[in-house]
Amino acid sequence: MCPIAQPQKELNMLSASEARPPGAASDQVHFGLEGVIVADTRLSDVDGKQGRLTIAGFSLERLVETHSFEGVVSLLLGGHAPTPSESERVRGLLGQARLRAHAWLSARHALLSSLDCMVTLRAVLAAYDAPLLDSAASLDAALELTALTGVATAHWVRARLGAAPLEPDPSLGHASDLLRLMQDVRPSERAARALDVYLMTVSDHGMNASTFTARVVASTGSDLVSAVTAAVGALKGPLHGGAPGPVLDMLEAIGTASAAASWLERELAAGRRIMGMGHRVYRVRDPRAQVLENALRTLASEDPNVDARIALARAVETQAERLLSARSRGRALKANVEFFTAVLLDGLHVPRHAFSGVFAAGRMAGWCAHFYEQQAANRLVRPSSRYVGKPPTDA
Ligand code: COA
Repeated sequence: MCPIAQPQKELNMLSASEARPPGAASDQVHFGLEGVIVADTRLSDVDGKQGRLTIAGFSLERLVETHSFEGVVSLLLGGHAPTPSESERVRGLLGQARLRAHAWLSARHALLSSLDCMVTLRAVLAAYDAPLLDSAASLDAALELTALTGVATAHWVRARLGAAPLEPDPSLGHASDLLRLMQDVRPSERAARALDVYLMTVSDHGMNASTFTARVVASTGSDLVSAVTAAVGALKGPLHGGAPGPVLDMLEAIGTASAAASWLERELAAGRRIMGMGHRVYRVRDPRAQVLENALRTLASEDPNVDARIALARAVETQAERLLSARSRGRALKANVEFFTAVLLDGLHVPRHAFSGVFAAGRMAGWCAHFYEQQAANRLVRPSSRYVGKPPTDA
């Protein structure tokens, strides 16, 4: 199952106390930067105690009720709630950006099938040279990269099937068109809306690892593409955006609710982590899990398997929570966004190896907005480290 064994805290090195007497302020090491505030942001706020996510002034629940993904992109990049006509304009611009991405990607289709989805994204983002990327308008550049990420993921799915890429339809909403580009059939309203909710739900999430990565690159004065390419690299890791594929593997390996407890016990006894459980900030259930579960429920009338999938996921979640709470000495380890990402995207018939790519397609707007926010009030991100190596031999 998941190859993530428990991290080794002490590597092969002298301990801090051997290297330097403890107590000095410079000895304070914030491993993993937990709880360290590194920036002011107007983009999103994660309240880990209450389990609340605010995106640009909206609770997540209200955001997904009142917006579309296109609206959220303009909200994040424009700084204000878009009017219906602004949302419509962004929808058109994003459609045109999908067509440009398609034209560029089609010439490189053979490359796509030979690479992993996230490696594909890393490569195409780094190489993309659309003229609008040099645009002074942050929204234009963000739309270009958002379109590229979504279309590249959809084309990657087609390439893996040995199928030709499909041309985007700019008259469709972004979520609807992405599903069509992957599956060669126009999705139902409900399916399109469920993916739209997913993309909005993951659009931004405080100072997560990939967003921080993008801001570090921005802080050096580097360019937007370098920042988001680095962010894709961070998202790829199984402790961050690489978890939902393994969550689906886990649910399939467990198979039935009655098998959950023993399967999970075996994993934990083998020293492996349960994917989709635990979070650096949330001490309660990740609020995004519920929003995604609700989105999935809307598909039940179209797909007779949805209720059974939710029931299995809920049973596994309950057992995992119980077992983890017994082991974790007071640290609450509950379902995170990836748990229901896996169930929702699978319910939308997105292949599991493309899950992280779809995540990146939703998060791109947030990365871009953070890039510009960092640029606007920049200070080079340059923390310090504590030397725990050998003292100089010539001292
Ligand atoms: N399964 C089993 N144990 C877990 C766990 C999980 N999913 N998540 C955390 N733990 C345990 C750790 O082993 C550690 O135990 P220890 O104190 O006995 O060593 C303790 O909980 C704290 O873990 P730590 O890695 O310090 O917490 P963190 O804040 O860095 O962890 C995650 C956050 C997300 C990296 C972690 O919960 C995890 O690996 N989850 C699985 C991967 C995943 O779903 N990622 C998507 C995140 S949105």
